[in-house]
Amino acid sequence: MSRDQVNQGKAVDAYVKKHLLHEDRGLENAYANSTKQGLPMIAVSEVQGKFASMLTTIGSARNVLEIGTLGGFSTIWFARAMKGRGKVTSIEVIPHHRDVAIENLRAAGVQVPEEVDILLGAALNILPKLAEEIEEGKREPFDFVFIDADWDNQWNYFDFGVKLSKGKGAVIYVDNAVRNMLESGIVGDAERVEKAVDVVANVGADDRVDAVVMQTVGSKNYDGFLLAVVK
Ligand SMILES: C[S@@+](CC[C@H](N)C(=O)[O-])C[C@H]1O[C@@H](n2cnc3c(N)ncnc32)[C@H](O)[C@@H]1O
Repeated sequence: MSRDQVNQGKAVDAYVKKHLLHEDRGLENAYANSTKQGLPMIAVSEVQGKFASMLTTIGSARNVLEIGTLGGFSTIWFARAMKGRGKVTSIEVIPHHRDVAIENLRAAGVQVPEEVDILLGAALNILPKLAEEIEEGKREPFDFVFIDADWDNQWNYFDFGVKLSKGKGAVIYVDNAVRNMLESGIVGDAERVEKAVDVVANVGADDRVDAVVMQTVGSKNYDGFLLAVVK
C-alpha cells in the first residue's frame, strides 16, 4: 500500500473514532497503564475492538473465549458488550501481562473473575483442560472465540476453538490472519517460512465451518481477519 493510502486509513479511523466511539476512560487508562508498565503496543485498535465486540452482541454470545489477553484491551471491549449477559474467559501466558490486564479491567469497572476470568498459561496447555471441563459439564461451551496470540499456533487454536464451541452458529475470529499469511510467504512475494501452516487452506478444507477472510486498513495499517461460523 502507498503511504497515502495508509495515511487515509488512519485518518478515516480517527474520524470514525471521533463520531462512533464514545469516550471510555477505562479503555484510555488500559492503553496508558499498559504502556507505562512496558507492555508491547500490539492490542487491537479501538475500532477493531468495537467491531469484534459488536459481533458478540449480534450473535447474543454468552460465553466468549479470548486467546491472548495482553493488557486486556480487547477483553474490556468484550466485557462491555457482554455486560449482564455472559462472561469472558481469556488466556495469557505472561504473568506480567495477566497482572496488568487485571489492573486495567478492574480500573475499567469490570469484575474479575466474575465477568472476566484470566487463565494464566500457554494456551495449548489450557485449552485441553477447558475441553475436559466442558465434557464433564463443569463449564459451558463457548459461542465466540477470539484468537489473538502467537501466530504459529493460529490453526491449533482454531481447531480447539471449534471443539470448545457450542456447535452450530458459534463464531471463531482469527486476528492478523492476513499479515500472517503474507509474512510467512503463504501468499505474496516473501520467501515461504519453513513449517508455515496455511490456516486459510486448513479452514477451507474443514467441513465443520464456513469461513471468510476480510482485509482491513486503519490505524494499525494493512491486515485482516478470518471469520468462521460453525455449521
Ligand atoms: C496481540 S497480543 C493480544 C492483544 C489483546 N487481545 C488486545 O487486543 O488487547 C498477544 C498476547 O498473546 C500472548 N501469548 C503469546 N503466546 C501465547 C500462548 N502460547 N498462550 C497464551 N498467550 C500467549 C502474549 O503474551 C500477548 O500478551
